[in-house]
Amino acid sequence: MIKRLVFLALLGSPFYALAQSGSPTLDGYWRYTVPNGGTNFFLLKQSGETLSGSKLEWKNVLTGTLVGNQFHLSASGKFGNGLEFTFDGVRVSPDTFEITEIGPGVRPGEHFEYKGVLERVSRDVVFPERLPLPPLVSQPDNGLVRTPPMGWNSWNHYHDHFDDATVRQMADAMVSSGMGAAGYTYVIVDEGWSSSRDANGNITGNARFPDMKALADYVHSKGLKIGIYSSPGPHVCGGYQGSYGHEEQDARTFAAWGYDYLKYDWCGASYVYQRTPEDLEGAYQKMGEALAKSGRPIVFSLCEYGWGDVWKWGAKSGGNLWRTTGDISDNWASMDRIGFAQLEITQYPGPGHWNDPDMLEVGNGGMTADEYRTHMSLWALLRAPLIAGNDVRTMTDETKSILMNAEVIAIDQDALALPVERREPQGSAEILVRPLAGEAVVVGLFNRGASPLPMAFRWDSLHLPENLGGRSLEARDLWAHASVPVTGESYKATVPSHGVVLIRVAVKAFSIF
Ligand code: GLA
Repeated sequence: MIKRLVFLALLGSPFYALAQSGSPTLDGYWRYTVPNGGTNFFLLKQSGETLSGSKLEWKNVLTGTLVGNQFHLSASGKFGNGLEFTFDGVRVSPDTFEITEIGPGVRPGEHFEYKGVLERVSRDVVFPERLPLPPLVSQPDNGLVRTPPMGWNSWNHYHDHFDDATVRQMADAMVSSGMGAAGYTYVIVDEGWSSSRDANGNITGNARFPDMKALADYVHSKGLKIGIYSSPGPHVCGGYQGSYGHEEQDARTFAAWGYDYLKYDWCGASYVYQRTPEDLEGAYQKMGEALAKSGRPIVFSLCEYGWGDVWKWGAKSGGNLWRTTGDISDNWASMDRIGFAQLEITQYPGPGHWNDPDMLEVGNGGMTADEYRTHMSLWALLRAPLIAGNDVRTMTDETKSILMNAEVIAIDQDALALPVERREPQGSAEILVRPLAGEAVVVGLFNRGASPLPMAFRWDSLHLPENLGGRSLEARDLWAHASVPVTGESYKATVPSHGVVLIRVAVKAFSIF
């Protein structure tokens, strides 16, 4: 009798119904949607109880199991900045699972948990049709960012785990900490703000960003400018809404809301376009034209990781800055590799159009103070955008002293904007020399090696005017904030491992007194 009751109970259960109808295998494409607008796609394959596949955005390898109606997937590859995730689900219909996603937070020791839905979709939902793209035609100069842009961006510290209140608090802290006064003007909302579109096709903020115009007004009321983030694709890297097919409409919306800066990230465009010069250039040209038509001066920040030698055509498409590299991580190896690689393409940037080796990690905790001073010095020598990526509300004095070193910022922002003119490797170290406005040069002594190193440069190697007409040189250590005596033939210093000494040398102004 009991057996018969159990049998009848099973007969009524959804699982039994699925089993009876011969549930289809999970082979094929699946759309994973989390609250607040994130959409991602999985391509799955099932063999018995074993699942394999990939999460398409980052080409992460998925492995897992389907046992009865319970499924588990883990991402064994690297997600974004090296994060790994698991997805546990229950099958609620043949083509639908309810999912719990667990992943680490951006900062060590943190984690997050999302509830989402996984639904089977056809291939053309994943790969929408390629839209026509305009040819690359020079855009008029929008007159913005004559020196490299400076500001703050949410991504490095928060990824998409932030909200309207976080951005407002950051704007407050930009003012109270002195970051704004030091030149960090643009507060940039990276991935995580957008939801889907309203009935008129207008892009909307998600539940964490209920009023993007009010947020812009707030940031402006602090005397700062505000940036926003989108993609030429239907969605951005983490799956939030992108501008595909709505480029002009979104440019008008961003302008109407009062945004001053757009970071336009390729990412989801890979579902639609190819990584060819025609598609890369065309997708950015399309938004460049849309921004120009929007009637508001908006800094156009291209983010396609340096593909297709963007430094050669980014300005033409209307770009004010362009990423030259994949994403930076908060560790020495990443920063060192990205930073020094930039010296190969340092002839391209200039007023209004800048190489962007990605945002600063200073203050995020993954590097030593010496390493962060190297990061800041190198970015300044490169004339890179200085976009802080830390929690400005809780900066230590050391972090403040690095990010707000006015003498180093002045190198980044130097009016002449000339490239590094000389690169002199010395074993595991390098000396970089860059001319500055006003008969001056800056010399960076970078020790990339594992032990402290004595380094030196000759005063007469700096290509300062040879006939000084009776004038002499003056030198200043930009991290010690102290004058350096110009004596003997050379400047000499022992540079700590992964550290830097930054010296500005100038011809002393002639004085009759
Ligand atoms: C890409 C960009 C990052 C950040 C993330 C957001 O990885 O390069 O700077 O915008 O997308 O998902």
